[in-house]
Amino acid sequence: MATPVLDKVEADSAASPYITATFRIRRFNPEVSDAAVWEDFTVEIDPKERVLDALHKIKWELDGTLTFRRSCAHGICGSDAMRINGRNRLACKTLIKDLSPEKPITVEPIKGLTVLKDLIVDMEPFFQAYRDVMPFLVTEGNEPTRERLQSAEDRERFDDTTKCILCAACTSSCPVFWNDGQYFGPAAIVNAHRFIFDSRDEAGEQRLEILNDKDGVWRCRTTFNCTDACPRGIEVTKAIAEVKKALITRRY
Ligand code: SF4
Ligand code: FES
Repeated sequence: MATPVLDKVEADSAASPYITATFRIRRFNPEVSDAAVWEDFTVEIDPKERVLDALHKIKWELDGTLTFRRSCAHGICGSDAMRINGRNRLACKTLIKDLSPEKPITVEPIKGLTVLKDLIVDMEPFFQAYRDVMPFLVTEGNEPTRERLQSAEDRERFDDTTKCILCAACTSSCPVFWNDGQYFGPAAIVNAHRFIFDSRDEAGEQRLEILNDKDGVWRCRTTFNCTDACPRGIEVTKAIAEVKKALITRRY
């Protein structure tokens, strides 16, 4: 017997995946006020969607002035790190269902960097620290006539730190960085590590001296916030410890 149309509609609506979720977003617009305020937005959304999808929905359907960065939407470009329910995460990799959506979900900018508008911070100090550690291969002498070979074991030594996407989730979760912002920060050290332990590179000593500075690796207090925050699962604290050890032993 055919299902009555009305029953089918009711069954469909009972199976609706949508929930009503509230996003409590930290808003700041220097053209309007010097103070940041929390603003609530309520959306109907599938909890299997990501926080980035909710932010798009809010921006496209409720308030076009909401400002945030994102590009790839797939955990690759590193542009949408934000503090979600008090923890640094990528909005594009955070599912709403994992955030206890029956309560308001808080979204605010990452800490320790100047907020420019809403969820956008000034990343320049972060990228300056990155540039300062010379994040590129340095070699001397004549250009080789063939590729620079490396054993699998040598490649393995810096494999973890090649995964960094420069999202700043680690650096902006570090209490030492919050303190005065002068500390190079975990991300810069991770990217120095990537080249210091590369057998083809010849500027390890230089990079170690840069990080021997009063604002270098010795500022790290091993709180592990950085490792917990990294969306790429990089063992950030371990990489910092390896750089410290290389500074003491001068072996790397
Ligand atoms: S180490 Fe991890 S948390 Fe830090 S910038 Fe790189 S990807 Fe982001
Ligand atoms: S938008 Fe690119 S990492 Fe999230």
